[in-house]
Amino acid sequence: MLQIVSPGMVNAAYLVAGVFFILSLGGLSHQQSAARGNLYGVAGMSLALIATLLSDSVSLYTLLAVPAVVGGAIGVGLALRVNMTAMPQLVAMLHSFVGAAAVLVGLVTFLDSGGLHLGIEKTLHQIEIYIGVLIGALTFTGSLIAFGKLHGIIGSLPLMLPARHWLNLAILLACVYLGKVFIHADSIDAGLMPLLLMTGLALALGVLMVMAIGGADMPVVISMLNSYSGWAAAATGFMLSNHLLIITGALVGSSGAILSYIMCRAMNRRFFSVILGGFGGGGGGEAASAIQTHGESAAINAADAAELLRQAASVVIVPGYGMAVAQAQHPVSELTRHLRAQGSRVTFGIHPVAGRMPGHMNVLLAEARVPYDIVLEMEPINRQLSETDAVLVIGANDIVNPAALDTPNSPIAGMPVLEVWKARQVIVLKRSMASGYAGVDNPLFFKDNTQMLFGDAKQSLAQVLRHLTGAA
Ligand code: TAP
Repeated sequence: MLQIVSPGMVNAAYLVAGVFFILSLGGLSHQQSAARGNLYGVAGMSLALIATLLSDSVSLYTLLAVPAVVGGAIGVGLALRVNMTAMPQLVAMLHSFVGAAAVLVGLVTFLDSGGLHLGIEKTLHQIEIYIGVLIGALTFTGSLIAFGKLHGIIGSLPLMLPARHWLNLAILLACVYLGKVFIHADSIDAGLMPLLLMTGLALALGVLMVMAIGGADMPVVISMLNSYSGWAAAATGFMLSNHLLIITGALVGSSGAILSYIMCRAMNRRFFSVILGGFGGGGGGEAASAIQTHGESAAINAADAAELLRQAASVVIVPGYGMAVAQAQHPVSELTRHLRAQGSRVTFGIHPVAGRMPGHMNVLLAEARVPYDIVLEMEPINRQLSETDAVLVIGANDIVNPAALDTPNSPIAGMPVLEVWKARQVIVLKRSMASGYAGVDNPLFFKDNTQMLFGDAKQSLAQVLRHLTGAA
């Protein structure tokens, strides 16, 4: 055993790492300080790793090196190859790893714990293990289903099983009962069966809960699973008596819970309605197809779109998931520079759930160097839309769907949207009349002041730019 640093020093290093993580979270809450926030995170994690490697918890470096090198290589390979559009799936997959780790650590800790704890200490240890495995199992399968939904392997429409709330309740009650049996078990053999049964039930609950959630409500689920993965890590920290895991897990768990709350408020949803699978919210798949869109949509070509923009004194750009798919942020930025140079007032309207992950559009626009001060949130943009000459909707759909406001049985009913139809002219850049992630038809495309510029957003924008600059 190689112990270079005393346990006291290791704990002090963990505490400093925890402070770095708090500074990191603070930095990540603003676009301007996000890069610094990331650096704090890297510094905290490096310190924690070095302290752990030099502590007495590591006894065999060769055993640690093999999984670290293999895992590290897979991680680097994935990070280098993954497209920006596939980031949300990757994050969901990583959450599932945290869940799986909590389950495995819980099971091993239990099997290893014979005779180590007595009395109240034993009971507390059993509770830690039970809760850690429960949250871990739920996070594992829930995140895998979220991965499938985000990756398009599983449809985005909610799976509405009959009596699903009763089924979920029955599973929860069974878990509580098994917990009682587990805590009172007087041997490892007697405790193993209730622990394994609960693990199976929690795995099933994770599947049922996320399958019941419709596409439009996925943002809340993602942030909720993020929060669960934090609590799973904190529970693992208790099992292993590792202070850093407890601190980090609690930070992730609580910030994920706050994000879920913010998402729910932004989407006008009640938290429990969402996690119980559309309970009390809009309908499911049937309602999605029941929305009526009528009339004909008007198409516009790149030359006319460029002319319309040339005449506009004020332009609002609304990016959505299609901008990420097309990787159109750079032409968007170039168009913005050109329009501002001609004297137009250009602002961006960012819906809180635009794209497929929190802050998705902000990250892309920052990458393309769009100035932060013209990137605004939904409320201020909605206030200025009736005074706006032209709105450019770039690969957005659900977040500009008027059905959210005027179709009560819509799955997106009640969700605040960017009310782009209030502007004088709207140009929508997308490839077809297909619906968005929630699978809901969009009446915006049939409004009198809306024109569709069909095609890949990046190519369409390049054509518009050529006409605007006179290069066409
Ligand atoms: P969506 O409703 O998904 O619409 C995106 C649109 O982009 C599609 O209708 C698609 O139409 C178009 N598109 C795709 N590729 C394109 C390309 N290459 N060029 C031009 N257009 C393209 O996106 P949104 O409006 O951003 O709304 C987000 C949705 O995702 C919401 O329902 C939200 O709840 C959900 N969601 C969000 C998150 C987070 S945290 N943000 C997480 C999970 C789910 P065409 O196929 O016709 O081109």
